[in-house]
Amino acid sequence: MTKSPSEPGSDVTTTSRRKFMTSTLAGGMAMTGVGRASAQQKPGSAAVANPKNLPPNVPDWSKVLGDGVAAHPYGKPSKFEKHVVRRDVEWLTASRESSVNFTPLHELDGIITPNGLCFERHHGGAAEIKPLDYRLMIHGLVNKPLIFTLDDLKRFPRTNRIHFLECAANSGMEWRGAQLNGCQFTHGMVHNVMYTAVPLKALLEEAGVKPNGKWLLAEGADAAGMTRSIPLDKALNDCLIAFKMNGEALRTEQGYPVRLVVPGWEGNMWVKWLRRIEVGDQPWHTHEETSKYTSLMSDGRARRFSFIMDAKSVVTNPSPEAPLLAKGRNVLSGLAWSGRGKVTRVDVTMDGGRNWQEARIDGLVLDKSLTRFYVDFDWQGQELVIQSRAHDETGYVQPTKNELRKVRGVNNIYHNNGIQTWLVRSNGETENVEIS
Ligand code: MTE
Repeated sequence: MTKSPSEPGSDVTTTSRRKFMTSTLAGGMAMTGVGRASAQQKPGSAAVANPKNLPPNVPDWSKVLGDGVAAHPYGKPSKFEKHVVRRDVEWLTASRESSVNFTPLHELDGIITPNGLCFERHHGGAAEIKPLDYRLMIHGLVNKPLIFTLDDLKRFPRTNRIHFLECAANSGMEWRGAQLNGCQFTHGMVHNVMYTAVPLKALLEEAGVKPNGKWLLAEGADAAGMTRSIPLDKALNDCLIAFKMNGEALRTEQGYPVRLVVPGWEGNMWVKWLRRIEVGDQPWHTHEETSKYTSLMSDGRARRFSFIMDAKSVVTNPSPEAPLLAKGRNVLSGLAWSGRGKVTRVDVTMDGGRNWQEARIDGLVLDKSLTRFYVDFDWQGQELVIQSRAHDETGYVQPTKNELRKVRGVNNIYHNNGIQTWLVRSNGETENVEIS
């Protein structure tokens, strides 16, 4: 579907009328119940407060005793936040066991993803491992093959690191044009938590890697038996054996009791339910690095071992699930990240790329971590064409989707870090579009 809404300002380019390619699958998503978050307030529909609870009256909740401390041994979000959940797209994958759900990015702020909202991607369902029966084996080209219990791992010096994990397939549906009408679905295969972990280097030093050891095979204990080859240099540099996320034990779905953390590299390599690390002299060319997690280029060749997640950003608010609700003061908010290091700058345009301004980065700016940015602006109901563009400390600048397509073609699923466009209509409704 191609629509040409009114021009958002005077056209200074030599091209003729600008066209918006809108997302095509919004209707399908609504039918399967995964369209716009139902609890979202629709643009223009003002939510009405109960006057009884407003000043100077004493509100209902001040007239009764609240729950005691024993009511919630493990705390949950407020019942008014029930719509803030991971969501999936039923038709996206062939089975529920080998499937994915998405982080509700438009409902979050700051840079930390709460544990219960981290997207999940399993190839054979989430394994339930008894901690007492857990073992991690290191073998292959090592002087001393070793088997660690969970307690053994916890006796090594540990470290705390905040890193993003992005699935290589994040934004994978968008290669051929705007598809999924929601920020949760276009960009929600990313999360960012603080891991408490033992550096993999410490365990490899304990085992003693032989001089011809150059690659590792990491294997999961789930039904999928996920395996990936990882260069030894990366393992020694910054890979982690993690047992806590955001201070508490890993969630079952994120690899309890132990997962591999491969900072800045594609999520598939972050093997969950980690059971085995083999040291070898070359990569294994497993299923996950041959038929999957490679990109078919226009000339028929495959781009392989594309480990690093290039710099990317997305405006999370406004976005299709988070329309603009009121004129006047507004906050544009978004996330930027880079697998090559720190984000140094984020540019934002509200007129489809004619004018760019530098966004205000706020909070922690960390290596290979989500970074939060804002633009505080005044909205008078004009149509907006919003994009964000991330820069990282290596000088890399996030490309447009068309620039990416020129190099990689459109037969891809993986590594789509192209600039996202949201069209905000004059009633505040926001849509996934592309500008041609
Ligand atoms: N590890 C195992 N053992 N099994 C899996 O299915 N999925 C991988 C990776 N590690 C997977 C795995 C993929 S494709 C991704 S994107 C990340 O885990 C997702 O991690 P998450 O579920 O914590 O978001």
